Amino acid sequence: MNTVDIIRKKRDGEELTRAEIQHWVDGISNGSIPDYQSSALLMAIRIQGMSDEEAAVLTDAMAHSGKLFTPQDLGGFSVDKHSTGGVGDTTTLVLIPLLAAAGLTVGKLSGRALGHTGGTIDKLESIPGFRTDLTLDEFLKLVRETRLALADHTDDMVPADLILYELRDVTATVDSLPLIVASIMSKKIAGGAQGIVIDVKTGAGAFLPKLEDSRRLAQSLVAIGSKLGRKMSALITDMSQPLGLMIGNALEVVEAIDTLRGQGPKDLADLCCELGAELLVFAGEAATHEDAILKLQQLLANGQALDSFRQLISQQGGNSSVIDDPSLLPRAARKVEARATTSGTIASLNALEMGRAANLLGAGRYTKEDAIDPAVGIELKLKVGDRVEAGGILAWLHVNSEEHLDTACSMVEAAYTIDPSGAQHTPPRLIVERIVGTPED
Ligand code: URA
Ligand code: CA
Repeated sequence: MNTVDIIRKKRDGEELTRAEIQHWVDGISNGSIPDYQSSALLMAIRIQGMSDEEAAVLTDAMAHSGKLFTPQDLGGFSVDKHSTGGVGDTTTLVLIPLLAAAGLTVGKLSGRALGHTGGTIDKLESIPGFRTDLTLDEFLKLVRETRLALADHTDDMVPADLILYELRDVTATVDSLPLIVASIMSKKIAGGAQGIVIDVKTGAGAFLPKLEDSRRLAQSLVAIGSKLGRKMSALITDMSQPLGLMIGNALEVVEAIDTLRGQGPKDLADLCCELGAELLVFAGEAATHEDAILKLQQLLANGQALDSFRQLISQQGGNSSVIDDPSLLPRAARKVEARATTSGTIASLNALEMGRAANLLGAGRYTKEDAIDPAVGIELKLKVGDRVEAGGILAWLHVNSEEHLDTACSMVEAAYTIDPSGAQHTPPRLIVERIVGTPED
């Protein structure tokens, strides 16, 4: 097969065959296709697009480019969730133990902070001793024996995505819907889950802020996963303001513990139950969505979800005493108040600006090599719909250094839009839309 012919075909808007796509992915993986040809093909795909069939074939070929798990490898009814990335999105830390407590198999491979959004692996690493760098054998053993593991991606899974992502980054081809979908779903398919729920964020703090773009992404992820035989659903959820009250690594671990104890912020708990309910119904652990929500709420209230988090921490080498004594987690040297300059009702709270401010304090990275400070971040006192008086506290910045502090504090204050008119403002709807698939295999 000739790679030039494949590039020409896609350049001219034709559909590629399974064999042609497989030839490309094989060539990327074994190095026989040079970067300049892959770059040309990426640009042709970026401009001409791909059918759902082509995107599904690409996803499957990428998933098979390295080591992968089948649902049989994991045992039980295995589930996974993916978020397109948010600010203060503490969901995974709550949802994974919650689902394990509900009887599902959850072996999840997760990622680090990217841009203004946080990453589960960085958050977990704020727990003293917690190992995120499990080998695939260690990971699989834990999942088989305990139905529960949460670790960092390894380079031997989906190597084709690592290579393609680097090329996309430097060829202006990141923002292609089929390439984004294949990148996300190849990693989910390789993870071996039977049921997958995707949390597609929308609004200022989301990777795709516009609802129509979030919807297209959600539909495409569900379509491709379904074509590959997985039970799929996607919730489009609000990320115009941050989720919960904490933004930052150790701060979000504290918030997750509160939520697993049934005492967390309502929006975070509600979102975890909504996402979890999709998977409980897929697994046959609940007859209806409403039954599933009730079951999950019970597990949060009766301590079983928290026990499951305790187990996850200790079986991956962490100090599970942090659950009863959060002072064992890294703590910032001091708290600085962000204050309102006018009286009124909070009309909006820009999640993107909040994520950027948290990064300035050291909660995120600017380059892959940067170290993060697990202790720093932002604790929100007020969110959309709350009333504030001039001079009142909006949020606290947890800080370890004076560098960038004034800028970060101004950014936090400016992220709040306060309406002095006396008009009512209600928080944005948490679940904006729900998209469910029908598995085809
Ligand atoms: N997340 C991914 O994993 N891949 C993309 O291409 C975009 C977002
Ligand atoms: Ca949060």
